[in-house]
Amino acid sequence: MKVIYPGSFDPLTNGHLDIIKRCSEKFDEVIIAVLNNTKKHNVFTVTERMELIKEATKDIENLEVDHFQGLLTEYAKRKGCNNIIRGLRAVSDFEYEMQMALVNRKVYPSLETYFMVSSSKVSFLSSSIVKEIASLNGDISCFVPKVVEDALKEKFKGGSR
Ligand code: PNS
Repeated sequence: MKVIYPGSFDPLTNGHLDIIKRCSEKFDEVIIAVLNNTKKHNVFTVTERMELIKEATKDIENLEVDHFQGLLTEYAKRKGCNNIIRGLRAVSDFEYEMQMALVNRKVYPSLETYFMVSSSKVSFLSSSIVKEIASLNGDISCFVPKVVEDALKEKFKGGSR
Protein backbone atom coordinates (compact mmCIF):
# COMPACT_ATOMS: atom_id res chain seq x y z
CA MET A 1 0.00 0.00 0.00
CA LYS A 2 1.17 3.52 -0.91
CA VAL A 3 0.85 6.46 1.52
CA ILE A 4 1.47 10.20 1.35
CA TYR A 5 3.11 11.96 4.31
CA PRO A 6 2.38 15.66 3.67
CA GLY A 7 3.76 18.61 5.59
CA SER A 8 5.69 21.85 5.57
CA PHE A 9 8.94 20.25 6.79
CA ASP A 10 10.51 23.67 7.41
CA PRO A 11 12.77 21.96 8.34
CA LEU A 12 12.67 18.20 8.87
CA THR A 13 13.08 17.28 12.56
CA ASN A 14 13.80 14.02 14.35
CA GLY A 15 10.06 13.93 15.04
CA HIS A 16 9.31 13.77 11.31
CA LEU A 17 12.10 11.25 10.87
CA ASP A 18 10.56 9.01 13.54
CA ILE A 19 7.27 8.96 11.62
CA ILE A 20 9.02 8.45 8.26
CA LYS A 21 11.09 5.49 9.49
CA ARG A 22 8.19 3.73 11.19
CA CYS A 23 5.85 4.46 8.33
CA SER A 24 8.29 3.07 5.75
CA GLU A 25 8.22 -0.23 7.66
CA LYS A 26 4.43 -0.43 7.57
CA PHE A 27 3.70 0.76 4.02
CA ASP A 28 5.12 -0.46 0.71
CA GLU A 29 5.79 3.05 -0.54
CA VAL A 30 5.91 6.41 1.24
CA ILE A 31 5.66 9.72 -0.62
CA ILE A 32 6.90 12.65 1.43
CA ALA A 33 5.02 15.62 0.00
CA VAL A 34 6.46 19.01 0.89
CA LEU A 35 3.94 21.84 0.72
CA ASN A 36 5.04 24.68 -1.52
CA ASN A 37 3.11 27.42 0.19
CA THR A 38 4.04 30.77 -1.30
CA LYS A 39 1.90 32.68 1.24
CA LYS A 40 3.80 31.35 4.26
CA HIS A 41 7.24 32.63 5.14
CA ASN A 42 9.48 29.59 5.27
CA VAL A 43 13.13 29.62 6.34
CA PHE A 44 13.98 27.04 3.65
CA THR A 45 12.83 27.01 0.04
CA VAL A 46 10.89 23.98 -1.11
CA THR A 47 13.98 22.75 -2.99
CA GLU A 48 16.15 23.10 0.11
CA ARG A 49 13.56 21.31 2.27
CA MET A 50 13.40 18.44 -0.23
CA GLU A 51 17.20 18.16 -0.43
CA LEU A 52 17.48 18.01 3.37
CA ILE A 53 14.84 15.27 3.53
CA LYS A 54 16.54 13.30 0.74
CA GLU A 55 19.90 13.49 2.48
CA ALA A 56 18.52 12.55 5.90
CA THR A 57 16.51 9.61 4.53
CA LYS A 58 18.93 8.28 1.93
CA ASP A 59 19.09 4.87 3.65
CA ILE A 60 15.36 4.30 3.32
CA GLU A 61 14.54 2.65 0.00
CA ASN A 62 10.77 2.85 -0.36
CA LEU A 63 10.64 6.64 -0.19
CA GLU A 64 9.87 9.33 -2.74
CA VAL A 65 10.40 12.99 -1.88
CA ASP A 66 8.06 15.27 -3.80
CA HIS A 67 6.37 18.67 -3.46
CA PHE A 68 2.91 20.01 -4.08
CA GLN A 69 1.00 23.24 -4.30
CA GLY A 70 -2.70 23.77 -3.67
CA LEU A 71 -5.08 21.18 -2.30
CA LEU A 72 -3.71 17.98 -0.81
CA THR A 73 -6.74 16.07 -2.13
CA GLU A 74 -5.92 17.10 -5.71
CA TYR A 75 -2.32 16.08 -5.24
CA ALA A 76 -3.39 12.70 -3.83
CA LYS A 77 -5.64 12.13 -6.87
CA ARG A 78 -2.78 13.02 -9.25
CA LYS A 79 -0.49 10.56 -7.46
CA GLY A 80 -3.15 7.84 -7.56
CA CYS A 81 -2.90 7.48 -3.80
CA ASN A 82 -5.78 7.70 -1.35
CA ASN A 83 -3.90 7.22 1.90
CA ILE A 84 -2.52 10.04 4.03
CA ILE A 85 -0.43 9.68 7.15
CA ARG A 86 0.01 12.33 9.82
CA GLY A 87 1.92 12.22 13.07
CA LEU A 88 0.17 12.95 16.35
CA ARG A 89 2.37 14.34 19.08
CA ALA A 90 -0.13 15.34 21.74
CA VAL A 91 -3.83 15.92 22.32
CA SER A 92 -3.28 19.51 21.20
CA ASP A 93 -2.58 18.24 17.65
CA PHE A 94 -5.77 16.25 17.54
CA GLU A 95 -8.38 18.94 16.91
CA TYR A 96 -6.65 20.42 13.86
CA GLU A 97 -5.70 17.01 12.47
CA MET A 98 -9.23 15.71 12.91
CA GLN A 99 -10.67 18.75 11.13
CA MET A 100 -8.22 18.37 8.27
CA ALA A 101 -8.93 14.64 7.93
CA LEU A 102 -12.69 15.20 7.89
CA VAL A 103 -12.54 18.07 5.40
CA ASN A 104 -10.25 16.08 3.12
CA ARG A 105 -12.57 13.08 3.24
CA LYS A 106 -15.59 15.27 2.47
CA VAL A 107 -13.80 16.61 -0.61
CA TYR A 108 -12.35 13.23 -1.63
CA PRO A 109 -14.47 10.48 -0.03
CA SER A 110 -12.10 7.59 -0.71
CA LEU A 111 -9.23 9.40 0.98
CA GLU A 112 -8.26 7.73 4.24
CA THR A 113 -6.16 9.51 6.89
CA TYR A 114 -4.05 7.44 9.25
CA PHE A 115 -2.52 8.83 12.43
CA MET A 116 0.76 7.58 13.82
CA VAL A 117 1.55 8.43 17.43
CA SER A 118 4.96 10.05 17.79
CA SER A 119 7.59 8.35 19.91
CA SER A 120 7.66 9.91 23.36
CA LYS A 121 11.36 10.76 22.89
CA VAL A 122 10.49 13.28 20.17
CA SER A 123 6.86 14.16 20.84
CA PHE A 124 7.76 17.63 22.18
CA LEU A 125 9.50 18.62 18.94
CA SER A 126 8.29 21.00 16.27
CA SER A 127 10.00 22.76 13.37
CA SER A 128 9.07 26.13 14.92
CA ILE A 129 10.72 25.41 18.26
CA VAL A 130 13.84 24.11 16.53
CA LYS A 131 14.04 27.27 14.37
CA GLU A 132 13.63 29.46 17.42
CA ILE A 133 16.45 27.70 19.30
CA ALA A 134 18.70 27.80 16.22
CA SER A 135 17.99 31.51 15.70
CA LEU A 136 19.12 32.14 19.27
CA ASN A 137 22.32 30.16 18.76
CA GLY A 138 21.16 27.21 20.87
CA ASP A 139 22.23 23.61 20.46
CA ILE A 140 19.81 21.72 18.22
CA SER A 141 21.98 18.67 17.58
CA CYS A 142 19.66 16.27 19.41
CA PHE A 143 16.52 17.62 17.71
CA VAL A 144 17.37 17.38 14.00
CA PRO A 145 19.53 15.27 11.65
CA LYS A 146 23.11 16.56 11.17
CA VAL A 147 22.43 17.93 7.66
CA VAL A 148 19.54 19.99 9.01
CA GLU A 149 21.61 21.21 11.95
CA ASP A 150 24.32 22.44 9.56
CA ALA A 151 21.77 24.05 7.23
CA LEU A 152 20.08 25.86 10.13
CA LYS A 153 23.43 27.12 11.44
CA GLU A 154 24.17 28.46 7.97
CA LYS A 155 20.77 30.19 7.72
CA PHE A 156 21.13 31.87 11.10
CA LYS A 157 24.83 32.66 10.78
CA GLY A 158 24.27 36.38 10.70
CA GLY A 159 21.77 36.30 13.59
CA SER A 160 17.99 35.92 13.63
CA ARG A 161 16.20 36.07 10.22
O1 PNS B 1 3.48 20.35 8.52
P1 PNS B 1 2.16 21.05 8.52
O2 PNS B 1 2.35 22.52 8.24
O3 PNS B 1 1.37 20.79 9.79
O4 PNS B 1 1.32 20.41 7.30
C1 PNS B 1 0.03 20.88 6.98
C2 PNS B 1 -0.43 20.38 5.59
C3 PNS B 1 0.63 20.68 4.55
C4 PNS B 1 -0.64 18.89 5.65
C5 PNS B 1 -1.77 21.09 5.28
O5 PNS B 1 -1.65 22.45 5.51
C6 PNS B 1 -2.22 20.87 3.83
O6 PNS B 1 -2.58 19.78 3.45
N1 PNS B 1 -2.17 21.95 3.03
C7 PNS B 1 -2.53 21.91 1.64
C8 PNS B 1 -3.77 22.74 1.37
C9 PNS B 1 -5.03 21.95 1.67
O7 PNS B 1 -5.28 20.90 1.12
N2 PNS B 1 -5.81 22.49 2.62
C10 PNS B 1 -7.03 21.86 3.07
C11 PNS B 1 -6.79 20.88 4.21
S1 PNS B 1 -7.66 21.38 5.61
